[in-house]
Amino acid sequence: MKINIYKTKQEVAVNFSSYLSNLIKEKKIVHIALSGGSTPKIVFEELASNFIKKIDWSGVHLYWGDERCVPPTDADSNYKMTVDYLVSKINIPQENVHRIKGEDAPSKEAIRYGEVLVKNLPEKNKLPNFDLVILGMGDDGHTASIFPHEINLWNSKNICEVAIHPDSGQKRISLTGNIINNATAVAFLVTGEGKKEKVDSIINKKEGYKQYPASLVAPTSENLIWFLDAAAAQEVKLD
Ligand code: 6PG
Repeated sequence: MKINIYKTKQEVAVNFSSYLSNLIKEKKIVHIALSGGSTPKIVFEELASNFIKKIDWSGVHLYWGDERCVPPTDADSNYKMTVDYLVSKINIPQENVHRIKGEDAPSKEAIRYGEVLVKNLPEKNKLPNFDLVILGMGDDGHTASIFPHEINLWNSKNICEVAIHPDSGQKRISLTGNIINNATAVAFLVTGEGKKEKVDSIINKKEGYKQYPASLVAPTSENLIWFLDAAAAQEVKLD
C-alpha cells in the first residue's frame, strides 16, 4: 500500500493525472474502472485540460465501478458526469466506453455488465482483471456502491450486484469485492475534511474499522494507492 498526501484537491488531481498518464503509456490496451463523486470530477477536468496533449486515449477502455440506476441523461448518472467532464473533451473511440445502463432493470443489468467484463477484460485468477480501478470513499466509509448496511455484498460471488443507497433508497449497480481486489492496481481518490475520520479508522486500523466497506479494498496485487488531500489525511502520520 502506498499513501500519497497532497496539500489541496487540485494537487491530488494533478498528481493522479500524472500517475494515470504513465500507466496508460505502459500498455497498448488499458482497462480502467471509473468512479463517481466529486473528486473524480476535478481529476477529469485536469485530464481534459492540462493533460489533454499528454495522453493517447485510443487504447484505453473505460468502465464504471458503480452507477446510479437512472437514465444516462439524469444529473445523477456517473456516466453523464464522465461524458460532460471527460469523454466529450478527449479523443476516445466511442466503442471503448462501456457504460452501465442505469435505465435498464437493475438485476438484469448487473448480470449483463458482468458479462461485458468477462468478455472484454483479460482473465486473472479466473476473474476479469482491470488494469486500474479508481475508487472514492463516502463519508460513511462506503466505496463503489457498497454501503456499510450492505457490506455483505462485498463478498458476493457475482461480478456486479444491485445495491441500495441507505438514505435515498436509490438503486445502484456496483462491482463487488472479488473483482475490485483482482485489479492490477487500485487507486483511492479521497479529499475533504468530511472523510478524515474514516480515513483515520481505515488506514490506522482503529477499532471497528472493518465495518466500513472501504477497509476491504486489498488488491491481491498489493498495489493499492491512496491519493489524499491534507484535509482528509489530518490523522494520517507517515513514517
Ligand atoms: C458514487 C461513487 C461513490 C463515491 C463516493 C465519494 O457513484 O457515488 O462512486 O463511491 O466515490 O461517494 O464521493 P465524493 O468524492 O463525492 O466524496
